[in-house]
Amino acid sequence: MYYPDELVEEIRSKNDIVDVISGYVRLTKKGSTHFGLCPFHNEKTGSFSVSGHKQMFYCFGCGAGGNVYTFLMKYENDTFQEAIEKLADRAGVKLPELEMTEEQKKQVSEKARLLEINKEAAKYFYYQLRGDNGKLGLKYFAERQLSSETMKKFGLGYSLPYSDDLVKYLKSKGYADELIVKAGLASHDEKRGTHDKFWNRVMFPIQDANHRVIGFGGRVMGEGEPKYLNSPETPIFDKSRNLFGLNFARSSKKDYLILCEGYMDVISMHQAGFIEAVASLGTAFTSGQASIVKRFCSSVILSYDSDGAGTKAALRAIGILREVGLTAKVLNLKPYKDPDEFVKNLGADALQERIDNAQNSFFFEVDVLERDYNLKDPEEKTQFHREIAKKICNFADEVERNNYIDAICERYSISVDAMRKMVVGYAGIGIAKPVEPPKSGVKKLDPDEGRRKAQRLLITWISEEPELLDKIDKYIGVSDFTEDVYRKVAEKLFDGIRQGDFEPASLISMFEDEEVQKEVALLFNTKLTGLNGIPIEMDSGLDKEKAFHDIIVKVKTNSLDYYSSKLASDVTAITQVVEGKKKLEELKNIKIHLE
Ligand code: UTP
Ligand code: MN
Repeated sequence: MYYPDELVEEIRSKNDIVDVISGYVRLTKKGSTHFGLCPFHNEKTGSFSVSGHKQMFYCFGCGAGGNVYTFLMKYENDTFQEAIEKLADRAGVKLPELEMTEEQKKQVSEKARLLEINKEAAKYFYYQLRGDNGKLGLKYFAERQLSSETMKKFGLGYSLPYSDDLVKYLKSKGYADELIVKAGLASHDEKRGTHDKFWNRVMFPIQDANHRVIGFGGRVMGEGEPKYLNSPETPIFDKSRNLFGLNFARSSKKDYLILCEGYMDVISMHQAGFIEAVASLGTAFTSGQASIVKRFCSSVILSYDSDGAGTKAALRAIGILREVGLTAKVLNLKPYKDPDEFVKNLGADALQERIDNAQNSFFFEVDVLERDYNLKDPEEKTQFHREIAKKICNFADEVERNNYIDAICERYSISVDAMRKMVVGYAGIGIAKPVEPPKSGVKKLDPDEGRRKAQRLLITWISEEPELLDKIDKYIGVSDFTEDVYRKVAEKLFDGIRQGDFEPASLISMFEDEEVQKEVALLFNTKLTGLNGIPIEMDSGLDKEKAFHDIIVKVKTNSLDYYSSKLASDVTAITQVVEGKKKLEELKNIKIHLE
């Protein structure tokens, strides 16, 4: 749902960023800015700054930055919708209700009822486990070495060995048979009437990312089929779009999640301190789950069982993760079967070591592939190399492809040239010759970056000294900012300054993409330098004037080049070019006094 800009802005301005962030990070005031340890990367000295004046945060260490919305979205991994709801609530602002049809209202209220009834059932199971009849369940969990704290955290429970006690309980609370069945907690047939789905099992409530119970897994204590019984899909339980443990893992500050196979793996990992562990829900990992994971991190460590089935599942998951652009690594748990056994036998430190040394997913795939070939046989060996070449074709990026070719060739003593040829043969793509390393250490500044830099400096400068806008108005306009994002920022900035009420933080909400938000935050937190990168003291005289002059000349020159290159395709460019030439000449010959 889209809210009007004014409302987004009102809610933002009613939530002081220093107040909000103080709830998460310990801040100390230095001058007009607050500093603390950055929550987005590991550091010992505080490079994380929060400015009450700008209503922005910015980390000089990792470059994370933005306004109060960005902060919540990053810290809590909230969507924009979630962030605005929290902040509206905090400021006592009422968000407009969604316009709903009767049918939609019915669905919403049904979902709310289903959530309620699941919560009620979770409470029921929870108390049974801890009551007089729960001894068997408690004994089972004790044997699996779960602490009572862990059991509480995951809301573990127990279903009694009777087939209708939950139904009776829920009916006594006023829920109709139909809803109990719809929630997947009971079935109905002629002979038995409405009867419990789960009985005589230890119960694992499954929560969505917001800690709401949406279903259950129930395990037999000991042998029996099925080992785990799961709630069926219901209007609130979509197995392909939820992950067990994500409600906790989302607060992990790691930039990866650990994907396990089972509920018990996740629970025992969390107990050992690895709160970044999640698992799929009794079904194979899906691309829906992959795109959810992508909201939280950029890579995944697969921690599947070390048997044949686990390996197969890992290979599948690698493909799915790769498709959504996540990188995967694979954990080696040998000689143990799964993470649960591993932690119990070797402990958390050993597991962390395995995590640090997790295997790149491509090499994992190649290892698995290798098992099918007898490398002593030249025929099979060739075939194996061909299969590798085919896999390497899947890397779209040339540098990446070349790196993999080098690594694989070294590992199996294959000639790099031969492998290149093979890859080209399969893909019909040009593989670049290895690039000679540059002779000197000097990196040439990419011309695009040079252009961006000048525009960035000009924006930073004007936002620090808004009175300069008057002096350059005649020569530089919004259209001279040829970078899309910078142009939008300049437009707002200039308008705001003219109206006398500019706050950089309001700009950030204009951009949805986190990377872009970061870039905008950078605009207002760049250290002022000349084009040559030499810092500018705000109180030095002449040098500063020259530096400023250089920057506007550069911006104008860039803009002229830009529009000239578009003359053939864009009729409006001609005005820009004609005007621009005139102004650039003038500009070159004038002095701008900064005082
Ligand atoms: P596992 O059989 O590996 O179980 O199944 P586990 O989680 O390691 O549990 P323990 O340690 O044996 O108690 C992995 C996952 O597959 C699903 C469950 O989600 C389980 O956590 N599963 C397994 C089922 O849904 N039904 C089953 O009968 C078995
Ligand atoms: Mn297992």
